[in-house]
Amino acid sequence: MTVRILSISGSLRRASQNTAILRAAIRLTPGDCQIALYTGLGDLPLFNPDLEETEIPSVTDFRNRIRAADGILIASPEYAHGITGALKNALDWVVGSGEFEGKPVAVLNASMRATHAHSSLGEVLSVMGARLIQKASLALPLTGNRIDEAALLSDPEIAGILSSAISALSDSIKELRQDASGP
Ligand SMILES: Cc1cc2nc3c(=O)[nH]c(=O)nc-3n(C[C@H](O)[C@H](O)[C@H](O)COP(=O)(O)O)c2cc1C
Repeated sequence: MTVRILSISGSLRRASQNTAILRAAIRLTPGDCQIALYTGLGDLPLFNPDLEETEIPSVTDFRNRIRAADGILIASPEYAHGITGALKNALDWVVGSGEFEGKPVAVLNASMRATHAHSSLGEVLSVMGARLIQKASLALPLTGNRIDEAALLSDPEIAGILSSAISALSDSIKELRQDASGP
């Protein structure tokens, strides 16, 4: 059975390195796996608990995409030692509705310096009940001049790390499926 992964970039920037990483990951996806890029982060309204039960198309779409995915792949920049407001806002919309509960999630870290956001995101995801797949949560040793998708793909070290992360996430999802279906 195909493994369906939803990838989420925490950056809204057009030339985002984190989005480029996810686009490169999509190109490296093996045949039994599909990775889609979520592009609606900037369309979500600011989270307001009063509106949690209200039908908001962008929020419903986000929740449905997470629910339909077997796993989530996140790449996000660090802003002032925290995760980006756009990503935190999106995650807040699914705290109460619970789509991350038990969901296998891998987090790619595009910057060796960005340790605060990486650990903070791990804490947010674990309190939301996500199943963090550590062996798929890899750091990418990027330098400033390797920022677009083509450059990422042409770097054998980066492409190798991305392929390993996808395989580890996909394998974990398959193992969890097997465990859930019993002996
Ligand atoms: C407002 C702002 C704050 C930032 N704060 C940090 C930080 O605390 N630590 C860090 O390593 N990088 C920081 N950066 C750098 C970004 O993480 C870096 O530019 C990253 O590549 C942006 O990701 P993107 O290309 O996906 O948009 C900051 C950038 C901005 C715009």
